Amino acid sequence: MSESKTSMGADRGFPALEHGHLCAEKDRLGSRCQSIRQLLSHGELREASKSLARFEVSMARHMRIEEEILFPKFSDAAPQTAQLLVEELRRDHEALRGLLESLAATLERGCSALEELDRFAGLLNAHEAKEEMYVYPTIFHLVQPSEMARIASRLLRTSAGSEPGAG
Ligand SMILES: [Fe+2]
Repeated sequence: MSESKTSMGADRGFPALEHGHLCAEKDRLGSRCQSIRQLLSHGELREASKSLARFEVSMARHMRIEEEILFPKFSDAAPQTAQLLVEELRRDHEALRGLLESLAATLERGCSALEELDRFAGLLNAHEAKEEMYVYPTIFHLVQPSEMARIASRLLRTSAGSEPGAG
């Protein structure tokens, strides 16, 4: 398991999927968001911009895993009730992507973007609360770690070279 984590990990930009892994990744993303906020509040815009660029890669990967693997699995498990929720979660992802783009543009102009970051963090927290309450428990109950790893491996092959390694 640790070898698959290493071989599919940060150097390839696509971590092994296993029970709990994505929840831990959510925590790390939240912490990194806070670190960027600290940099901004200290006026360290250049460092914040670099950190944000790496964060964007991780967020993109995280959301892609959810959209390509977890949401379809969740929809299969509960087709009647999942549809509206999954649509809402996908809209959240689009809004998060838009806010990240806007944040990066604001930083490129040399502005602080603290307010935008807080808006992004607020949406991210609300979005993750919905996923953790409804989607993740169902997925982790239904999908075996070996199946998750197999799907991740397939996605890794199809996405190879499409994005740089996460920082
Ligand atoms: Fe999500």
